[in-house]
Amino acid sequence: MSAFKIAIGCDHGGYELKQAIVLYLRSKDPFTDKYSVVIKDFGCYDTASVDYPDYAKAVCETITEGGNEFGILICGTGIGISIAANRHIHIRAGLCYTPETAALTRQHNNANVLCLGGRQTTAEQAYAIVDAFFTAQFEGGRHQKRLDKL
Ligand code: RB5
Repeated sequence: MSAFKIAIGCDHGGYELKQAIVLYLRSKDPFTDKYSVVIKDFGCYDTASVDYPDYAKAVCETITEGGNEFGILICGTGIGISIAANRHIHIRAGLCYTPETAALTRQHNNANVLCLGGRQTTAEQAYAIVDAFFTAQFEGGRHQKRLDKL
């Protein structure tokens, strides 16, 4: 099983949750867990106020340039950073507050970026959401036809 290459980024509203998710994902065991990751952290690196479009840009550009196959982006609500991410070509970013929606955005939307709300979602909830996202697979078929229209 190969490891997913993941780019992660956040603004100050998502900083604490990003730190927790980075530790969680880096603790995955490639021999015993259902998936493992190689993760590159694009910041921010503390709680000083920053602008979420800058972090969405850094993560999305490395995906479209082929450096990382998936992204995780976090701001306070997840809304601003998902809007910013979806302005980048070839990015399909899904804002998820539950494991169910995280699985569905992979299965139906072939999302390549998972967005989270750092002030809305606890670390424990986020771990379940991240696991659902990275263990679900795109179903293709009628969903591909719809993606082709985006
Ligand atoms: C920053 O205070 C906050 O506005 C931002 O993290 C995000 O929630 C925007 O959508």
